[in-house]
Amino acid sequence: MNVISFAKMKKKGVPISMVTAYDSWSAAIVQESEIDCILVGDSLAMTMHGQQSTLGANIQMMSLHIAAVRKGAPQAFIIGDMPFLSYRKGLTQAMDAVQAIMQAGANAVKLEGVAGSEKIIAHIVESGVPVMGHLGLVPQSVNGLGGYRVQGKSKPQEEVLLQQALDLQELGCFSLVLECVPASVGNKISQQLQIPTIGIGAGSGCDGQVLVLQDLLGVNKEFQPKFVRKYLHGYDLIKDALNQYDADVKSREFPSQDEEF
Ligand code: KIV
Repeated sequence: MNVISFAKMKKKGVPISMVTAYDSWSAAIVQESEIDCILVGDSLAMTMHGQQSTLGANIQMMSLHIAAVRKGAPQAFIIGDMPFLSYRKGLTQAMDAVQAIMQAGANAVKLEGVAGSEKIIAHIVESGVPVMGHLGLVPQSVNGLGGYRVQGKSKPQEEVLLQQALDLQELGCFSLVLECVPASVGNKISQQLQIPTIGIGAGSGCDGQVLVLQDLLGVNKEFQPKFVRKYLHGYDLIKDALNQYDADVKSREFPSQDEEF
């Protein structure tokens, strides 16, 4: 997979699969699977660091996790998130953030929104760094949006989203994430764009789908938003394995003779 593959897959009508990974062991498994690409998303602030939102992610955190993912998945196409405000403080700081993310091992960067970031997006693209956009529910703006809610529900909002998507395409983005928009909006935007859309809660009309790995594996028992399908009941499976280990230790079943030197 490389940046050109995204356009090719859209052209051929082959859906693109993307998952997040934040560490080297899970990245290694993802690389050995059929999944097309890895996102080191700023959701790692929540998933890996227990924070309430993605606002706590910073460039040091992102770089550390991207480097770990690159070690586990040396062949994978990795997209690294630009964290909160890292591209809103001027060109030099934005480019320093891009440099850190790319030098940590990413193949592309992702950033949220478009208004006010046009020059920076164009400059990143002109610098030879592929950019993935992110529209709809943009979690870094959770305070401005008044919470995690579906975006683009009204006709005017839908039109704004479509225009933003066209703007990102015009600025040179190779793909964009559409998060939590009505399926009809996801479908319409995907149809009107030449670049592929990767949906999360944006319906089956998108050109690809992304899920957070921990959500897909069901390791957080309480977290069940409508758009997540759990492919594993990871929470129960992991807890059962830990309880089995505990029982084996306490009953001296572990270690056995075969597990001793
Ligand atoms: O950070 C993240 O995990 C993301 C996905 C929700 C697309 O941006």
